[in-house]
Amino acid sequence: MAKRTVKDLDVKGKKVIVRVDFNVPITDGVITDDNRIQGALPTINYLVDNGAKVILMSHLGKVNHKDAEKLQADMASKSLLPVANALQKLVDAKVHFVASTRGKELEDSINELAEGEILIVENTRFEVGETKNDSKLSEYWASLGDLFVNDAFGTAHRAHASNVGIGSILPSALGFLVEKEVEMLSKAVYNAEKPVVAIIGGAKVSDKILVIENLLKTADKILIGGGMAYTFFKAQGLEIGNSLLEEDRLDVAKDILEKGKGKIVLPVDHVIANDFANPTDVKTVDVDQTPKGYMGLDIGPKTLELFRKELDGAKTVIWNGPMGVFEKEQFAKGTIGICEIIADLPGAMSVIGGGDSASAAINNGFADDFSHISTGGGASLEFMEGKELPGIAIVQDK
Ligand code: 3PG
Repeated sequence: MAKRTVKDLDVKGKKVIVRVDFNVPITDGVITDDNRIQGALPTINYLVDNGAKVILMSHLGKVNHKDAEKLQADMASKSLLPVANALQKLVDAKVHFVASTRGKELEDSINELAEGEILIVENTRFEVGETKNDSKLSEYWASLGDLFVNDAFGTAHRAHASNVGIGSILPSALGFLVEKEVEMLSKAVYNAEKPVVAIIGGAKVSDKILVIENLLKTADKILIGGGMAYTFFKAQGLEIGNSLLEEDRLDVAKDILEKGKGKIVLPVDHVIANDFANPTDVKTVDVDQTPKGYMGLDIGPKTLELFRKELDGAKTVIWNGPMGVFEKEQFAKGTIGICEIIADLPGAMSVIGGGDSASAAINNGFADDFSHISTGGGASLEFMEGKELPGIAIVQDK
């Protein structure tokens, strides 16, 4: 059954708690990727325009509650204040920030909110009960509002107090971002127009086993790149030098190759180097020519050509995981090449399942070339694995 969305709620004059995922990268107080903040704007603006008193809650990073010193350091460095300042520049409404997660100041500030104003609560993970979905904390937070909207797709795979806890107490609905994420990812994974081609990369095969197994049911081809390809090569008996290997996943890799016969396509050449941190010899060779002592760090041009042919005519493309160490310019050509190939595909629906491949596409200027770039990392992965996401499951049906 379809979930209620924010449009199903009567929000005028109501205190609406919105769980957003403002877990954004921040370096020296500067947000380096505001995709998640931008993604939440339609819901925030809708609530502001419709006279709600908007209370935003989010976590930022991981917070160590086991070690007092580390907790102090996390509380000093993981405040949502820079996010509140950034949001103020993106919306017309007044944005208040309260540097606490409970107490009189927070309660008074919420009670003083005018219709159409926004308040950001401090990092939810400053509360030890947040990640435990503590019932007392959930009840307290729920008591601060009248309605709950979950617009934090990136956190939907967590069952925490600020999403599942509050959502199990207050009348609830999905925000527009979560609605769009579910619609686009469902279309790509379960109702896709064929042919469907998936591109799966990233460092570890262990992170993607369930995704590959789920996609094998619907995809016509699965193109594999990135560090995870080496466990497959090793499983085929190839020399992989010092490339990334998950020895304990060799059997799984063999099994996937067997199940995916005719569907799985591996790289044919790659960019290799004699050292990761300080490469002094970088060259491109076929995958069966990897010398001992070298490691593969990107797919090569023949592979890009092969992948281009496989993608030709695709009606649906699902991409998750970079093709190489794209953070270093000399190993970024494979990942950027995939962006270019997808950007050139006429009429294909293309979805990036978040994480590193999403950053690579956005930071290299390809954001508008994809039908959808997910704001989820782990959440998109779990969605693509076919798992139910608790943050969405908790929201009331229509
Ligand atoms: C993410 O960045 O994937 C989400 O914000 C969830 O963060 P977490 O992995 O720390 O729970």
